[in-house]
Amino acid sequence: MTEIEWWEYDDAAEMAGALAGDIGFIIESAIDARGSAVIALAGGSTPLAAYAKLAEAKLNWKKVTIIPTDDRIVPMGDALSNVTMLAKTFLPKGARVIPIISEAASDYKACGNAANARLADFHWPLDLCLLGMGADGHTASIFPGPDLEEALSAPADRRALGVMPDPLPKDAPVARVTLSLPAIASARALMIAVTGKDKKKVLETAIKQGEASAYPIGKVLAAVELPVDIHWAG
Ligand code: 6PG
Repeated sequence: MTEIEWWEYDDAAEMAGALAGDIGFIIESAIDARGSAVIALAGGSTPLAAYAKLAEAKLNWKKVTIIPTDDRIVPMGDALSNVTMLAKTFLPKGARVIPIISEAASDYKACGNAANARLADFHWPLDLCLLGMGADGHTASIFPGPDLEEALSAPADRRALGVMPDPLPKDAPVARVTLSLPAIASARALMIAVTGKDKKKVLETAIKQGEASAYPIGKVLAAVELPVDIHWAG
């Protein structure tokens, strides 16, 4: 079980500024240390303001590779597509934004396998993994369902896989590709960004329950060894 530090903000705008600052610092440090930065960013709506702020930062964007922590299996350009959102924000800055969805894949498992192969191409571990969390306690696209065990106990070199959430989340009822728990847990820096009292309660409960938690985020955090920063605004 990791050490967890909560950072609480008065509002979402303040959180966005702080998150953008922290992510920018990690990117700069990675470029200084290794010549490039590879980061995974959460989808969903919570981090959008932080991404807009981050995109204003003067960074050596050409040295930055961004992947989504997870994505919905929808065509590029679809409103549900996380990589489309990341591409719109960071491609104009010169960053490399890599999709983890292959529209040509025959099914969600094949889509996950293609993502896993693609992710072998750049340097690991990730310099940063920024996670979000759903009100049901999922994180990235590690959901209850037939693929949960595979996502949690994947071997170290299995970085991504296809998952079919069960039940399907109402706001985006589609199969997904997600980073595996080992890919997330091996990151050099790990942050979670959440808002609202309900999510805070879920997160606190999941942390307390640890590996036995029915919430995927509880299982994920139980397996993580590096310190985790949780950014929260009410
Ligand atoms: C995705 C995610 C997911 C997200 C949470 C929270 O569904 O694509 O990456 O893990 O972070 O569902 O989403 P909101 O920020 O929209 O509440």
